[in-house]
Order: sequence, then structure tokens, then C-alpha cells
Amino acid sequence: MARLLGISGSLRKGSYNTALLRAARERLPEGTTLEVVTLHGIPLYDGDVEAASGVPDAVNALKQQVAACDGVLLATPEYNNGTPGVLKNAIDWLSRPPDDIPRVFHGRPFALLGASPGGFGTILAQNAWLPVLRTLRAGFWSEGRLMVSRAGKAFDAQGRLQDEAVLDQLSKFLAGFAAHCDRTAR
Ligand SMILES: Cc1cc2nc3c(=O)[nH]c(=O)nc-3n(C[C@H](O)[C@H](O)[C@H](O)COP(=O)(O)O)c2cc1C
Repeated sequence: MARLLGISGSLRKGSYNTALLRAARERLPEGTTLEVVTLHGIPLYDGDVEAASGVPDAVNALKQQVAACDGVLLATPEYNNGTPGVLKNAIDWLSRPPDDIPRVFHGRPFALLGASPGGFGTILAQNAWLPVLRTLRAGFWSEGRLMVSRAGKAFDAQGRLQDEAVLDQLSKFLAGFAAHCDRTAR
């Protein structure tokens, strides 16, 4: 059964996107596992650092986690109608050195989901990820969509997803993605 990795693109303690991944952990199909990670400790990409000492340990550890999983859930905030720098920076690091791109990305299932307090639930951020995932030849899973809008209402004060309609969408999204990951598992 699928072993999923959920990467939150927000460092905020009270992040809706991290909370969405936590909610996903409670809604997995039988036998599917989900490890949730945040990007604390991933430095800003610096080509001089890479040239002098290679990829930092924290990046290598994340690369290993991606390479070992059957599918990645990217929980993306939307910043200024685009991708958040924290998550783009991590994906950029994960693409170094380029010789590792096939092992880390090629054909690996990636699904996008996201939450925002506004009315559009990260739709523009999710669209902005598409050329990045295409460039890396990731196996973008396009059969489901999950955009949580009005996050302030969908989550309670403790960060628990409480909107029944969204919980139902989340379950269906996860069932579809996990089944796909099961089919494509290496
Ligand atoms: C710099 C910045 C730009 C933002 N731009 C958008 C935006 O374009 N669309 C949107 O829906 N929310 C936008 N927001 C609000 C975020 O959706 C909100 O801060 C959200 O809670 C971030 O995700 P998180 O809860 O996982 O940290 C922006 C927030 C920041 C800090």
C-alpha cells in the first residue's frame, strides 16, 4: 500500500496547509501511510554553498524521503497569486545536482492541495506549480483537485479541519491519489 510524503509549504506554527496535511493523516485509505514534513532547516538555495560543499544535509535528508515514497502531497500556500518562496526554494534544492532529478522526480506521483483564508483556495498557486512539475518530469496527478477556501471557517481554533464537506472531499482526493500511487509504486 502507498507510502505518501506530505510536504507543507508553510513554516507557520498555525499553518492551514500543515493542518490540512494533519487532517489528511486521519483520512487515509486503509493501509496507506502519510509522513508529514515541514521545511524548517532547509537553507536558502545558494550556488556558492553548493559548489563549495554540495547539497546540505537537511536537503539530502528530504531528498531521501522523497525518493523513498510512492507519492508526494504538496500542500501549497498561495502568495501573491503564485508559489510560496519557502516551498519553491525546497523544490529547487531537491533538483540539485541535476543528475539526481530522475531518481527524485521522474514519474513520481505528485498531487497538489492547499488552503487559504480567501475565496479561491490556492487555485493560482496550484496552477503556478504545473510548469515546475512538468520541467522536473514529475508524475503530476490531475484526477483530483483540493482547494480549501475560507480556511478560517474550515478549520477550528485548534487547527482541526471541521468542515464536513471539505473532509469528504479530502477523503475522496486521498483515496484517488493513494490508488494511483499503488498502481505506479516502483
Ligand atoms: C506575502 C503574502 C502573500 C499572500 N498572497 C495571497 C494570495 O495571493 N492569495 C491568497 O489566497 N492568499 C494570500 N496570502 C494569504 C495566505 O493565503 C495566508 O497567509 C495563509 O494562511 C498562508 O498559508 P498557511 O496558513 O499555511 O501559512 C498571502 C500571504 C502572504 C504573507
